[in-house]
Amino acid sequence: MEEGKEPVTTTVVSRSSQSRGLPQRLIQLLALFLVFCFAISLFSIYMIRKTGVVTTVTSAIPILQPCVVEQPKDDLDRWIMPPSNLIHTMSDEELFWRASFVPQLKKYPFARVPKIAFMFLTKGPLPLAPLWERFFNGHKLLYSIYVHSLPSYEARFPFTSVFYGRQIPSQVAEWGRMSMCDAERRLLANALLDISNEYFVLVSESCIPVYNFTVTYRYITRSKYSFMGAFDDPGPFGRGRYNPNMLPEVNISQWRKGSQWFEVNRKLASIIISDVTFYPKFQEFCRPACYVDEHYFPTLLTIRASNLIANRSLTWVDWSRGGAHPATFGANDVTEEFMKKLHEGRECFYNDKPSSVCDLFARKFAPSTLPRLQLLAPKFLGY
Ligand SMILES: *[C@@H]1O[C@H](CO)[C@@H](O)[C@H](O)[C@H]1NC(C)=O
Ligand SMILES: *[C@@H]1O[C@H](CO)[C@@H](O)[C@H](O)[C@H]1NC(C)=O
Ligand SMILES: *[C@@H]1O[C@H](CO)[C@@H](O)[C@H](O)[C@H]1NC(C)=O
Repeated sequence: MEEGKEPVTTTVVSRSSQSRGLPQRLIQLLALFLVFCFAISLFSIYMIRKTGVVTTVTSAIPILQPCVVEQPKDDLDRWIMPPSNLIHTMSDEELFWRASFVPQLKKYPFARVPKIAFMFLTKGPLPLAPLWERFFNGHKLLYSIYVHSLPSYEARFPFTSVFYGRQIPSQVAEWGRMSMCDAERRLLANALLDISNEYFVLVSESCIPVYNFTVTYRYITRSKYSFMGAFDDPGPFGRGRYNPNMLPEVNISQWRKGSQWFEVNRKLASIIISDVTFYPKFQEFCRPACYVDEHYFPTLLTIRASNLIANRSLTWVDWSRGGAHPATFGANDVTEEFMKKLHEGRECFYNDKPSSVCDLFARKFAPSTLPRLQLLAPKFLGY
């Protein structure tokens, strides 16, 4: 109302100084207009006093009404609805604190369908995205997707893509450095914010699923153990990287090595993001040549939850060509013979029993393999 008054006074002032120059007719019109404005103001004040501002606003802008209805303030939904937008301005410290909330009652008071969170740790683009789209197709309620790429990379997925709007706030992550573990913890923490996520799978842009979604979901959700690769390597690239300064938190017989591509359940994900005991030790005493991303999670979970991990990864890589890095497959490698081998010749333990289904994912596949993989996936991978 105060805004409405201002023009009135200024107009009155200007009228008194300029009235002689104005024609009679115009002054009359102006006065009439002022009276009209004043009447409207009085009427508005009266209406607001009588009916209350809120009702006036909502009845005047009916479009707002559905929004108000969709956000019941004291409903359980407030706690169980996933965040509508993955972009937030929380710092890592704030994010990890928020993500560390754990319900004390194990029974959920609502129908909860456990989802698998697929966490893509990438540099930039996802060249094999079309293959993953096909893998996810038709299973909307059973998975969620999170993508951590270099902050400088701007993702451009179409609205219809399963990757659309699934990028989380990221920071630079370097191989072998603590920043890589931070990126993985950041993915876990963001995924933990959605209470329906029960399983957390870390994959990269060069990974492919080796079985269809149905098989993958059943395998992960029915496993007694989480799949964290962890073994005691007596050689220079295993125990050789242990630093006695990590005592007393970590001794040499607890030191583990493993692949960074893991699958963990909610409980282990919480342990990982809320660890403050081992993190500073690794940060300080696992120097670049230590390759902290190969040791921190395997060692942490071996100490904190050794009875809950299978000590093996779900992701197959080919080390047979030797060298410091596993083989990267190109278009010419992806033959029918090769595809058959992705399911054959495996032996492992699944729920303490021998199994021939061991790896649900495989890497590393170059972008050039996409057409061949799309052609052969229906017959050999079942999707
Ligand atoms: C390492 O610590 C564990 C648990 O505290 C203990 O059982 C084990 O004997 C220790 N090993 C060595 C070599 O000190
Ligand atoms: C994994 O290794 C730990 C020792 O590091 C062991 O206690 C645990 O039983 C192993 N898990 C399985 C499933 O064998
Ligand atoms: C998934 O793959 C399995 C075996 O690989 C097959 O029996 C099943 O029909 C496939 N499911 C779908 C939905 O295609």
